[in-house]
Amino acid sequence: MIKFNNVTKIYENITALRNVSFSIEKGEFVYITGPSGAGKTTLLKLIYLAEKPDSGDISIAGWDFNALKEKAVPYLRRNIGVVFQDFKLLNNKTVYENIAIALRIRGFKDKEIKERVYDALKLVNLRHKSDNYPPTLSGGEQQRATIARAIVGEPTILIADEPTGNLDADNTAGIMKIFKEIHAKGTTVLFATHNRNLFRHTGMRVLRLDSGNLVADEIG
Ligand SMILES: Nc1ncnc2c1ncn2[C@@H]1O[C@H](COP(=O)(O)OP(=O)(O)O)[C@@H](O)[C@H]1O
Ligand SMILES: [Mg+2]
Repeated sequence: MIKFNNVTKIYENITALRNVSFSIEKGEFVYITGPSGAGKTTLLKLIYLAEKPDSGDISIAGWDFNALKEKAVPYLRRNIGVVFQDFKLLNNKTVYENIAIALRIRGFKDKEIKERVYDALKLVNLRHKSDNYPPTLSGGEQQRATIARAIVGEPTILIADEPTGNLDADNTAGIMKIFKEIHAKGTTVLFATHNRNLFRHTGMRVLRLDSGNLVADEIG
């Protein structure tokens, strides 16, 4: 599903990733960990095509990034949902509208948009807040709204970059439960966190980065 072969990414004079190779199968749940500056965000950005590698090969769902035409990028992106640490919701639009936007752009009909948005909101337990504006929600609720936004297009891959970084323990537990439910539906999940408590003793796969090197591919 996701393959990196000797991938290197350099920002000016900083090597953010150095000769990184790994392979993730469809339906896996993989944590990406390592200290701040290790290269976690860079690795995820390469997957959702926000950055390009300086060398090496990346392929996703059989799409070879080196051979990818510019026109194909939006189609590939539809397969990938992204959740960030900072919520990036539009504060002047309701929760419902924030989640519906991506579907509107893709030309879905209102009836289908409504079904999908409410399904996504139910999954994150926010159906009752659909008409609220983001600033009236708690941090945990806002993050649940961004998860609904990420999954409403039914991506095959869900990428999360420190999604619990701004949340307390209770909200973190709630978010983890939602990610596990999404994974149980068959979605491939990549979850970047520097917080080892999230994966310790879970028996889940962990890719560990340090100074741009992939230093371990292990079970948490
Ligand atoms: N846009 C950028 N320009 C220059 N350096 C960057 C940029 N993005 C990240 N870096 C550097 O690349 C390294 C890896 O960063 P990052 O992938 O954000 O790590 P992490 O997410 O693990 O904290 C760090 O040294 C960081 O300062
Ligand atoms: Mg980061």
